[in-house]
Amino acid sequence: MERQNDTLKECDFPQQNGQFYGRRHGKKLKSSRLALMERLLPRIALAKPEQSLDVTKLFPFDPQDIWVEVGFGGGEHLAGQALRHPHIGFIGAEPFINGVAGLLSLLNGCTNGKIKQTPLMLDEKRADNVRIFPDDIRLLFPFLKEKSVGRFFVLYPDPWPKKRHENRRFLISENLIQIHRLLKNGGELRVATDVEAYADWAKKQIESSGLFICAKTDTQTPPEDWISTRYEKKGIKAGRKPSYFIYTKKSS
Ligand SMILES: C[S@@+](CC[C@H](N)C(=O)[O-])C[C@H]1O[C@@H](n2cnc3c(N)ncnc32)[C@H](O)[C@@H]1O
Repeated sequence: MERQNDTLKECDFPQQNGQFYGRRHGKKLKSSRLALMERLLPRIALAKPEQSLDVTKLFPFDPQDIWVEVGFGGGEHLAGQALRHPHIGFIGAEPFINGVAGLLSLLNGCTNGKIKQTPLMLDEKRADNVRIFPDDIRLLFPFLKEKSVGRFFVLYPDPWPKKRHENRRFLISENLIQIHRLLKNGGELRVATDVEAYADWAKKQIESSGLFICAKTDTQTPPEDWISTRYEKKGIKAGRKPSYFIYTKKSS
């Protein structure tokens, strides 16, 4: 446990603005995942910047575009997209340490276009197009440059169903304003949720912001390049119906 706490100290950044209400820690990490946190995370973690960050310089190649996933959970979608798109630079933000360890485990198993679970084998051929911010994405927003991101994924955001917790939901207007600022003209915001009330609320939020244009009217079918997550599969098994949204930035 002590080892885990030491590792966590290194990855936790102090919260400055806005509080994060979700979980940061779950079950104690298995030793293989702990080893990935110690050995792999430092190689691909993004420290909280102190000044404006040029995201194109984070990778050992010139990325064609930058895609950001907010709250990647276990990382299935992010790792899958990163493998499919080796020329895109991916930034994933997730304060839940067990989720970060999950993504590391997937990335570590990336070889020749396939993901396999091979913890502890730091394969040199793994996709090196992912950078992890193990914290609240809102801490990164002020340091990212306007029009630097081609795509934002916000998949199954915590629904915070109680009215009094509405301001904890991720798609509130202050975050939408940031996403709009950071997206390139024509850039996309992709959202998925399996909570009907949240889907209605999110659609209203996004559309009434006046910052985005709806680019997908059929919300029942996933986008063509969709990669399902464990979270989504669990929801479908439990009878919940996902909604998928794609919005493009209204040019600024
Ligand atoms: C319900 S889970 C969904 C996880 C994943 N997207 C999936 O579909 O499997 C929502 C995740 O968003 C993360 N999250 C919530 N607010 C966040 C924020 N401000 N920045 C980054 N991650 C956040 C939570 O820690 C949680 O892991």
